[in-house]
Amino acid sequence: MSTNQPFIAPYPIARLRRLRMNETLRGMVRETELSKNDFIYPLFVVPGKNVKREISSMPGVHQMSIDQTIRECEEVCKLGIPAVIFFGVPESKDEVGSEGYNEHGIVQEALRAVKKEVPGLYLITDVCLCEYTSHGHCGIVRGSEIVNDDSVELLVREALTHAQAGADMVAPSDMFDGRVGAIRTALDRNGFQNTPIMSYAAKYASGFYGPFREAAESTPKFGDRRSHQMDPANADEALREVAQDIQEGADIVMVKPALPYLDIVYRVKERFGMPTAAYNVSGEFSMVKAAAKMGWIDGERVMMEMLTGIKRAGADLILTYFAKDAARILDRR
Ligand code: PBG
Repeated sequence: MSTNQPFIAPYPIARLRRLRMNETLRGMVRETELSKNDFIYPLFVVPGKNVKREISSMPGVHQMSIDQTIRECEEVCKLGIPAVIFFGVPESKDEVGSEGYNEHGIVQEALRAVKKEVPGLYLITDVCLCEYTSHGHCGIVRGSEIVNDDSVELLVREALTHAQAGADMVAPSDMFDGRVGAIRTALDRNGFQNTPIMSYAAKYASGFYGPFREAAESTPKFGDRRSHQMDPANADEALREVAQDIQEGADIVMVKPALPYLDIVYRVKERFGMPTAAYNVSGEFSMVKAAAKMGWIDGERVMMEMLTGIKRAGADLILTYFAKDAARILDRR
C-alpha cells in the first residue's frame, strides 16, 4: 500500500501530470497491479448430468452439474486462476439443512470429482446452510428466532465433511457467533490442522446479494438475515467481528460486499495486517453487466477499474464472478 507523501514541491516546479504523459511511464509508476493470483471464482453446483443453466440475472454465470463443473474448473485452471469457491444447490431441502452436512452431498461429491480430475486447482467451500434449508435461513429456526449455538454445531459438521471430501480451505459465511473457533477445533481434532479457514468476518445484510439468491436458490421464505449479518451503517463493529474471528483462528478475513464497503476493507487491512479478502458480490457484477448491455458504460473498463479499486483499498484476494473475464484481459496486456 502507498505511503503518505507529505512533501511536494509547489507548482510549477512540481507538475503532477509529468508522470502521466504516456502509457509506458504510467505503467512504470503504477501503484496497484491486479494479478490472476488474486482471484477466487465462485461456482454453483447442482444435481444431475450435463446441466449448464445460465442464471438470468448473472450473464455468463451458470448453475452446473458435477460433470460440467469439472469442465469449468479445467477452463479456470487453464486461465491461470488459482482457486474456486463452491456453493451447492441440493436435490432436496429440509428444516435443518441435512444435505449441507451429508458426506455424499452435492458439494462433497463435487469436491471429490474435481480434486481427482483437476488436481492443480485450489478448492474452497462456502460453509452455510441457507442453500440447504427449506426456509432459506443460514441455520436452525425456532419460532421466529434464528438459533446460534445449535446452528454452529451443524456448520461444524458441514465444514468437516467438506475437508474430508477434499476441500483445501473452508469459508464460513453464516455470520453466527463462535463458528470459526468451533470449526477450527473440529478440523484440528480430525487431522485437518493445515486446512485454513477464510471467515466471512464482516458480512453485511446487503441488497447486493439478490442475483446470488437466484443462483443458489437461497432466498429466505420469511424474514431476513439482519439478526446475524451486519448493519450496513456500522464500521467499528466490523473491526470487532474481524478481531474476534482472528482470535478464534481465522487465517484469512473477508469483507463482503466489496464496493460499498471499501472503507472497511481499508480499515481491516490497516488494523490487522491479515490476509484480507473482499467479495465482489453478485449485485455488483450484475449492475455492471446490465449497464454495459444498455450501452451506458464500457463493461470491461468498469470491471477492471472496480477490481483495481478493491485491491487498492487493501484486499489481497478478490472473490469475483469477473475472474475469467479479467484473467483474459490480463493475458492480453
Ligand atoms: C451465504 C452466502 C451469500 C453469498 C455468499 N454466501 C448470500 C447471503 O448471505 O444471502 C452472497 C454472494 C453474492 O451475492 O455474490 N451462503
